Amino acid sequence: MNDAMLAIRAARVADAPILCAAERETARVPGRLVSLPDELCEDAFARRIEELASAGSYLVAERDGAIVGHALLERAGPQAALAHVRSLTIVVHPGHTGQGIGTALMRALLDWARANRHVERIELRVRETNAAAIHLYGKCGFTEETRFRHRLKLADGRYLDDIGMACFPRESRP
Ligand SMILES: CC(C)(COP(=O)(O)OP(=O)(O)OC[C@H]1O[C@@H](n2cnc3c(N)ncnc32)[C@H](O)[C@@H]1OP(=O)(O)O)[C@@H](O)C(=O)NCCC(=O)NCCS
Repeated sequence: MNDAMLAIRAARVADAPILCAAERETARVPGRLVSLPDELCEDAFARRIEELASAGSYLVAERDGAIVGHALLERAGPQAALAHVRSLTIVVHPGHTGQGIGTALMRALLDWARANRHVERIELRVRETNAAAIHLYGKCGFTEETRFRHRLKLADGRYLDDIGMACFPRESRP
């Protein structure tokens, strides 16, 4: 992909409907995002963008003026003891995967984290079948910490494990 065509910028509240629609569509594929399509509402997206975008930890990727992906780091919990931990979400929008957009979003988020001295640990959970995501996270310095056996049960009765991964942006630069 020609990187010159791809821009990474802070999300805006006005982006909420597009980001919400993309997550809804992605969540319909079993074994991708855990959220149910009905749980994803535009108001929740707008609120989260408002909370995070001014600090710079909610990003969108734009190609030729159209949003093609988003990624965010949010606090892992309100507790003071978790203030150094961020939880990662990344979604390259349907039809745009496999073109380097996920890599560009991860690089930009990790640059943000390295520039923010309060962020020491980034964590995530990924389904065991999501080979593209596991590869991307490994490439960006995440390592597997734990496996949540049969954490997901699909509509057809099959189980999937969730893999817990983390990286320490102040300690490593892959
Ligand atoms: C997972 C996701 C973020 C990856 O982003 P992407 O833009 O598709 O990934 P990129 O094009 O940047 O490719 C990243 C790497 O994964 C590799 N890859 C792609 N598909 C793969 C697959 N099925 N198996 C293994 N590796 C794969 C690419 O070759 C590339 O590796 P390289 O840089 O070493 O050559 C994206 O596919 C996505 O958003 N999927 C739907 C939502 C989702 O699953 N989010 C994560 C939930 S935990």
